[in-house]
Amino acid sequence: MGTLGEGGRSIVYEGERRGERVAIKVYKPYGMEKHRRKHPEPLAEFEYRRNRAFFEAPGLSRYVARPIGFFHTPGVSALIQEPLDGELYYFYYQERKGALPTGLFGHIEKIVERAHAAGLFDIDLHAMNVMVVEEDGQPIPKLFDFNLVPWHERIRTPWVTLLLKSGLRNSKRRDLRMLRDFHDFSRKVPRLLRYFPSTG
Ligand SMILES: Nc1ncnc2c1ncn2[C@@H]1O[C@H](COP(=O)(O)OP(=O)(O)O)[C@@H](O)[C@H]1O
Ligand SMILES: [Mg+2]
Repeated sequence: MGTLGEGGRSIVYEGERRGERVAIKVYKPYGMEKHRRKHPEPLAEFEYRRNRAFFEAPGLSRYVARPIGFFHTPGVSALIQEPLDGELYYFYYQERKGALPTGLFGHIEKIVERAHAAGLFDIDLHAMNVMVVEEDGQPIPKLFDFNLVPWHERIRTPWVTLLLKSGLRNSKRRDLRMLRDFHDFSRKVPRLLRYFPSTG
């Protein structure tokens, strides 16, 4: 059983369940602690539910890793998901020096449009959260990371209430900004590169 990757909140392993290859996203204690302050639902259940909502939204399933299950025990908490065989968008882009196949970014724009149409916001859309998978010789972006708690679902601390009431938190705004700045890797990527030591 190998590792598929690591993020700020989890380590993702490759495993097998009923004869099927699966990705098992095991949460770090730090990730669960951060989540607890934002949402009452256990992180594994929250991410599973959110993964399903995206997978089932009209026109989105081809862009989303299929959710398989979750477990939440005092010892370990994990999400089980379809394993994606591809390359993270950031590395895919670097290898091609930005010369991307036509249409690839258009798919990403479509993801945002369709998610919003389905009432799904705060997608956590950045180049380390998108896997580029070849399908019938065509590169297709796929999402797999669904644990960001949308602003409108957050526990109402005075700060959250204030921002929501003031209208400073428009539900689409964050996604549209992430889309606009998608190829500005300075915001999200440097912090995450430490989880990919082989890439230097
Ligand atoms: N379903 C999957 N298939 C293949 N690799 C995955 C899958 N889910 C996550 N990974 C790998 O694990 C890394 C961390 O996963 P991610 O969901 O971003 O975790 P976090 O919520 O901690 O940011 C990803 O960058 C990716 O390389
Ligand atoms: Mg991530």
